[in-house]
Amino acid sequence: MEALQQISPGIDEQSRLLYVQTFGCQMNEYDSLRVQRILAHKGYRLTMDLALADVIFLNTCSVREKAEQKVYSFLGRLRRHKLLNPRLIIVVAGCVAQQLGKTLLQRFDYLDLVVGTRGISAIADLLEVVSEKACRLAHLPEQPDEGYYADILPQSTPLASQVAAPVTIMQGCNNFCTYCIVPHVRGRERSRPPAEVLAEVQKLVAGGAKEVLLLGQNVNSYGRGLGGKISFVTLLESLSSQTEASRIRFTTSHPKDLTDDLIACFANLPKLCRHLHLPVQAGSDRILQRMNRNYTADRYLQRIELLRRTCPDIAISSDVMVGFPGETEEDFQATLRLLEEVQFDSLFSFVYSDRPFAKSSEFTDKVTEPVKIRRLIELQSLQAEITLTKNQAELGRLREVLVEGPSKNGGLQVSGRTQQNRIVNFEGPGELTGRTVLVRILDAFSHSLRGELLTVLE
Ligand code: SAH
Ligand code: SF4
Ligand code: F3S
Repeated sequence: MEALQQISPGIDEQSRLLYVQTFGCQMNEYDSLRVQRILAHKGYRLTMDLALADVIFLNTCSVREKAEQKVYSFLGRLRRHKLLNPRLIIVVAGCVAQQLGKTLLQRFDYLDLVVGTRGISAIADLLEVVSEKACRLAHLPEQPDEGYYADILPQSTPLASQVAAPVTIMQGCNNFCTYCIVPHVRGRERSRPPAEVLAEVQKLVAGGAKEVLLLGQNVNSYGRGLGGKISFVTLLESLSSQTEASRIRFTTSHPKDLTDDLIACFANLPKLCRHLHLPVQAGSDRILQRMNRNYTADRYLQRIELLRRTCPDIAISSDVMVGFPGETEEDFQATLRLLEEVQFDSLFSFVYSDRPFAKSSEFTDKVTEPVKIRRLIELQSLQAEITLTKNQAELGRLREVLVEGPSKNGGLQVSGRTQQNRIVNFEGPGELTGRTVLVRILDAFSHSLRGELLTVLE
């Protein structure tokens, strides 16, 4: 938010106001930042007030049914704003836009513009057409978006400062897990040339970023199709040695592509944060196979074992799903056993839902809603205990924390994260933002830690 104002100095009172609402994953967050940057160059300023907006931009997610419903309920609330301000332009972009295309314009008659996942670099031109011609448009290109990264290349304006900045390194996905809509709405996997990633990271660091979060649906397969010896490991190595970023993170990894070389990076690259998000989805081999995940529970456990042997301090988080079609009580128990065995530091858990285009929506042996909910509750209560125990194990430890800003708890507290991705709040001045400090952990809660500041490291 602040970022947009910083990079658009001297904008007069007449500038148009943009309201941005982002749903879904970090890749959508990144896309929304890009849209803000593109529109900042056209004189837009960001507003937090829907009623003041000239343009409302919704970046949507459709990965689960609930995510899609959230978009509709938000859109429903916008009808009133359009009635009050007929000049308002409402834009829907992202995965729901790609999924439904023109149908969205029919379904919501006050919607002006639908932009698919491969079309957002044209946002400024699209807005101009819609406002000048007073028309309604759906822009859904099939080919990769050639202009996607154009606004962030070295010759353009400096990037806004964020302590922890996202960087998309690849788009799309080739894995076709049977439950998943992503490959259908984001298209095939495309890796970004390493020189370009490097240039963006250097710019972010010059603008004040300390940590970079490399993004892709399956970053482990980065480099495929770029030719030569480029791999995710070589990318991590060059980012480590050729940029001044203090911390590097990445998400998401696919267990089938997590190589020994990549695991070794957690021991060899000091800038690489000791945290890995490694979605397992299920503990039953039968279900994993029906999901088309291409690994077994045993293979997953072997990866975890090697990770912990290589880097004893590593934190591991995951995604799991309950109620996949055909999941029996026995299959579900296998997932619970896997959670007990791995002891994840944190976990995102979901109830399976049918998605358009996804193969599993045609599977006939669906699990009923009450059973899914019961399984989710059981699984979440088990994980809540594990997470709390893991957080309590932090008590008394000294941890390196990168301060991200004032704490949500208010008061005189600031907030940051450990390498292991735990949120730590502690008393300290706001000026610590962007600094790496040493903190002693004093309290452990279910989602965060409280500590005391010992010293400023960097
Ligand atoms: N690319 C990442 C995940 C992207 S989606 C990966 O490969 O792991 C994030 C999570 O949403 C998934 O890990 C999965 O647990 C969940 N998810 C995806 N499709 C779903 C569906 N149809 N129903 C329920 N959860 C789903
Ligand atoms: Fe979806 Fe599987 Fe690709 Fe992840 S790896 S985005 S779950 S298809
Ligand atoms: Fe959602 Fe699309 Fe991301 S479906 S999870 S916003 S890739």
